[in-house]
Amino acid sequence: MGKIHAAITAVNGYVPDYVLTNKEMESIVDTTDEWITSRTGIKERRILKGEGLGTSDMAIHAVNGLLKKRGISADEIELIIFCTTTPDLPFPASANILADKIGAKNAWGYDLQAACSGFIFGISTASQFIESGKHKKVLVVGGDKMSSIINYKDRTTCIIFGDGCGAVLLEPNEEGYGIMDSILKSDGSGMQYLHQKAGGSARPASHETINNNEHSVYQEGQTVFKFAVTNMADVAAEIMERNQLTSEDVAWLVPHQANKRIIDATASRMGLGSEKVMINIQRYGNTTNGTIPLCLWEWESQLKKGDNIILAAFGGGFTWGSVYLKWAY
Ligand code: UT7
Repeated sequence: MGKIHAAITAVNGYVPDYVLTNKEMESIVDTTDEWITSRTGIKERRILKGEGLGTSDMAIHAVNGLLKKRGISADEIELIIFCTTTPDLPFPASANILADKIGAKNAWGYDLQAACSGFIFGISTASQFIESGKHKKVLVVGGDKMSSIINYKDRTTCIIFGDGCGAVLLEPNEEGYGIMDSILKSDGSGMQYLHQKAGGSARPASHETINNNEHSVYQEGQTVFKFAVTNMADVAAEIMERNQLTSEDVAWLVPHQANKRIIDATASRMGLGSEKVMINIQRYGNTTNGTIPLCLWEWESQLKKGDNIILAAFGGGFTWGSVYLKWAY
């Protein structure tokens, strides 16, 4: 019997219908399509419209499609890890809300908060439950309704974010496919550059916090950019090195989609041409926890069994990291 790896056996995604183009952005804040495109690579992003709809409502679509693809029922799911920075409510966990909505009666679950690195923290965590033999079907959801925490008066921040959600199923594999390695890092001293000022226990909601727009993303873009470029590229190069992977060995880089310039820097550091890099930032912007599973979903038909895939992300916290996996189907 070979070592048990946690392999992705199904992937699916969902983006809401409403398309917020750069052209429309020009009517919201003082910006231009040219500025947004050249500084970020983004042309449009999706926005979840509709009273009372939260991140779990996008997850329902992603997960129901995934279960159908895999041909299993919701009650076979044992654990749900919901990676999100915009849960439906502060509590209970969106994992619980989702489990109820999809009928995953036998699952336990929890939310995982690691901002834009959430999905890779999530699948790494999930893999431990598989490798230990504790669980055989673990659902990892990554998604955000970023529009719920965006200040559409802050032109440096609002232009990069969008809404979307992806999901993967992890199952045991004893044939040498699945998650091979991960490097995960965090540095809380980066908090000052990227955070939400109010709405938590340190600064609960009040008239003052609402009037000051403190319930939205605060980002010092340039500083975050510098940390992101260095750390995402370094960690991706590190995971290649320690697994003796050359750029020829790597079939795909799946980078977090925050800024096309950060993605290009990471790919260049890894020695990869653009044909090996999944990029859909132009259509969805930065969906935070959604970016990586949405890429896997969109590229699924091009992936081949045995492909060496590197995931890499950087986000608020600061958090960052990389996962190396061998595609299993
Ligand atoms: O996903 C989680 C982690 N987050 C990230 O990785 C995001 C990292 N940061 C970034 O991607 C970039 O910093 C931004 C896209 C957010 C901003 O781009 P930038 O090139 O760093 O712009 P900047 O903030 O340095 O601003 C440059 C100039 C400023 O004008 P002056 O002072 O040079 O006259 C801004 O006022 O661009 C101006 N500006 C804009 N102009 C038109 C800032 N935002 C806009 C805008 N439209 N939307």
